Amino acid sequence: MEPAVWDIGYLIASILFILGLKKLGHPRTAPTGNLYGALGMLLAVVVTIAQMNFGEIDNFVLIAGGLLIGGLIGYVMAVRVQMTGMPEMVALFNGFGGAASALVAASEVFRRIEENTFPTDLELYVAWIAIGLSALVGWMTLTGSLLAMMKLKGGVELFGTWYRTPTWGPGWLNYVKGIFLIAIVALIYMSIEEPGNQNYVIGIIVLSCILGILFVLPIGGADMPVVVSLLNSLSGIAAAFTGFIISNNVLIIAGSMVGAAGLILTNIMCKAMNRQLIDVLFKSFGGSDKEQVTRTKVGSDPEEVAMICDGISKCVIVPGYGMAVSQCQHQVREFADLLEANGCEVKYGIHPVAGRMPGHMNVLLAEANVPYEKLIEMDDINSEIGECDVALVVGANDTVNPAARSNEGPLAGMPIINVDKARVIVMVKRSLSVGYAGVDNDLFYEDNTMMLFGDGKKMMTELVSSMKEL
Ligand code: TAP
Repeated sequence: MEPAVWDIGYLIASILFILGLKKLGHPRTAPTGNLYGALGMLLAVVVTIAQMNFGEIDNFVLIAGGLLIGGLIGYVMAVRVQMTGMPEMVALFNGFGGAASALVAASEVFRRIEENTFPTDLELYVAWIAIGLSALVGWMTLTGSLLAMMKLKGGVELFGTWYRTPTWGPGWLNYVKGIFLIAIVALIYMSIEEPGNQNYVIGIIVLSCILGILFVLPIGGADMPVVVSLLNSLSGIAAAFTGFIISNNVLIIAGSMVGAAGLILTNIMCKAMNRQLIDVLFKSFGGSDKEQVTRTKVGSDPEEVAMICDGISKCVIVPGYGMAVSQCQHQVREFADLLEANGCEVKYGIHPVAGRMPGHMNVLLAEANVPYEKLIEMDDINSEIGECDVALVVGANDTVNPAARSNEGPLAGMPIINVDKARVIVMVKRSLSVGYAGVDNDLFYEDNTMMLFGDGKKMMTELVSSMKEL
């Protein structure tokens, strides 16, 4: 194939990426967007293979083996993953993206060292700075993402649980991070001065791996959405750097797009949490030790709640992580249908960081065929929540916790869905325990709050049965 032909192939792949990204902007067009993105990637891979030397058969065996094994692992992971495991898988894939780019950059530099072929003058500076930055960002993304995955997973007590929500001195840690960063920049400079010395590259890789851990270690609790989207962005930036190193246009374009999209998402997450990115990265107030719940509250039963819901005119349903855990979105939809059949207006209030990944609630509710127009964003639902007779909170906690309105604690300043403004609040959860950020919730103890203690699916099924019996 002529070079011009594969450039056209890359151009079409890039257009598919852009169109795909645009279509991912709305739930209705998102599946088509996904398809466009996948087709673009397939085309990019085919064009890349087509421009290789068919004589180097070893390469093709390696590539085919890699595609086969990688594709199989990806397929098995995608098929087996539970909806509740998606956030960890997203974090892991961010890390793999960063590592893949960093590995390509590393193999390129080691190849040049082995063949003793180095560019000169400005080209050397550009290539070696790109190699250093790709290693820095790529390896940081890998180790940071692995740690983020462990923080999101919970229950993994490899070295105890202290790493999930550390509360210890971020002040001195920032100096340590600064020293590591300076050391890496120094190593990049030395590698340019002495390009044949691979020890500098190895040094950059090792320090970058440690830096990734140091960056993510003090971030926890409610700030995790920000760190996950930032790592997503970094994985794209690493790919763009690698694109420069191996002069691959489509890698530069795709990497830049992932980097930019990730930064936009990071910005959205920061706004949703009312945080400055710099504070999330360097002040580490997102974590806290889980608070001990000492107060008590008598639970209600589904019949009682059904009677309250009988004849109401407006209801808002606020889903959270517990809905994902119990997979009760179908029962929630059934409950809404019953209310609507009785003439009640039902809307769903969606907090931008409800669940464990952006759009988590939208995906679950779409699976239960809840019409998109009923999913109302936080600000809009807050403007009408005072008119609601009932706010049904299904497995949400931090995102409705009035403690966020205070200036203290891990949730300080985070905007919430103001369910406490509704006439009656019904909370479906298993206990009085805290949410992800570890902050006790005063809402449970209010006189107009009814607690339906139990697994989300069980409680919603019983609530639906009770509604039908009325
Ligand atoms: P959370 O604050 O995490 O609370 C979820 C609640 O669900 C828990 O209090 C738990 O209480 C309940 N629950 C768990 N399993 C349940 C089950 N089987 N049935 C019924 N209830 C169950 O949820 P949220 O309000 O959605 O807030 C999300 C939090 O995660 C925020 O702090 C956010 O910053 C953080 N986070 C979000 C993301 C993204 S991007 N969305 C990423 C990382 C972290 P019980 O144990 O008493 O049942």
